[in-house]
Amino acid sequence: MTSAPGAAGGGPARDPGRRSAIVARRLVTCDPSRASSADPLGVIEDAALVVRGGAVEAVGGRQEILGREPGLEIALEAGGVVTPGLVDCHTHAPWMGSRDAEYAVRMAGGDYEAIAAAGGGIVASMRAVRAATTGEIARVLRARLRRMAALGVTAVEAKSGYGLDEASERKQLEAIAEAGGDARLPRVVPTYLALHALPPEAGGDRAAYADTVARSWLPAIAAAGLARHIDAYIDRSAFSVDEARPVLERARALGLGVRAHVGQFADVGGAELAAELGALSADHLEHVSPGGIDALARAGVAAALLPVASFTLQQAPPPVAALRAAGVPLLVGSDANPGTAPTESLPLALALAVRLYGLTVAEAILGATREAARALGLGEVCGAVRPGLRADLAVWDLPHESAIVQPWGAPRALAVLRDGEVIAAAG
Ligand code: NIG
Ligand code: FE
Repeated sequence: MTSAPGAAGGGPARDPGRRSAIVARRLVTCDPSRASSADPLGVIEDAALVVRGGAVEAVGGRQEILGREPGLEIALEAGGVVTPGLVDCHTHAPWMGSRDAEYAVRMAGGDYEAIAAAGGGIVASMRAVRAATTGEIARVLRARLRRMAALGVTAVEAKSGYGLDEASERKQLEAIAEAGGDARLPRVVPTYLALHALPPEAGGDRAAYADTVARSWLPAIAAAGLARHIDAYIDRSAFSVDEARPVLERARALGLGVRAHVGQFADVGGAELAAELGALSADHLEHVSPGGIDALARAGVAAALLPVASFTLQQAPPPVAALRAAGVPLLVGSDANPGTAPTESLPLALALAVRLYGLTVAEAILGATREAARALGLGEVCGAVRPGLRADLAVWDLPHESAIVQPWGAPRALAVLRDGEVIAAAG
């Protein structure tokens, strides 16, 4: 039985000084100080946590917490499993338009890279973004974030990359800032991805385009505080290591975190570059050499696995066993985008990560909570249920975390809380 979330006065954190408890039959903390090899998720059965001012103040057994303070208000009582709110570490969420016609061509045997080379793909989405206003993009993004929240997600990385000129890339980031300012939606981490594809007006000159990004567009974006991270699509049909390097290096010098799309179609050395630059994550990795895996491991770069994209493209999985054996932290993202991952569902990505990539349930959940938060620079904000972090939680209509990674195809979160406030609820 789960009591109506927020029934006792609109959620646990409405009044910043107010303290209240959340009770859970099974609490997945993802707190490393509670984890062991037998229990990598740090689970507490019959648990309670105290929320104060939107933050977690205490976590423990129900008897322990409520025994100390019998009068403490219980704001929410969960009869199933409660986890940290899910963190989606890789999305292209501020896209406009639809590529359904292209999808139909691909399902009939058309090739993704060939369609892009013929002016479709990312450049088709570019046309839709260029035609939209900031307000229109923000409205579409807000709706998308609202649906993500309903799936259990409380933090989302959101990339630009469909503007591909100075003003349109900035417009996408401004739309991210606008939507990201809404405390009733998941928290949003903006990433600048001008090196996503070459726009037609660049006349095929990738190096000159990358140079303009590095020297002119990027410093202005950084100065305006519109991006926390830089990303670049490094692949055989995108940008080379030599073209991407100056942009990523400049971004790092400007204080942005580095992430990169690497080895989605071919290994062109992107993993080694990500390692050299101390990237927070290298994403995709369907094609990466043993040397690239070693480099990632030595540099502590996380691998962001994007199984919806490889499922849609009918690709073989990345070398997960080798990444795991090397000690590379594993993340799972939705890759939400209109081309390779037409989904908004991180739970779908988790299901595929377990079924197709062979991740354990614990690896998948950590890769979409604590490890994802760490790789987004949110490690001291969310991603686990422990004192000091924000009370970002997903209350599931499911008895056990093993059920979260099953391919439900429908939202199974009963209530989703950000900063202790309900931002989505079933029914
Ligand atoms: O992560 N690979 C590059 N970027 C996206 C696809 C973007 C698109 O097709 O619109 C990805 O798969
Ligand atoms: Fe992507």
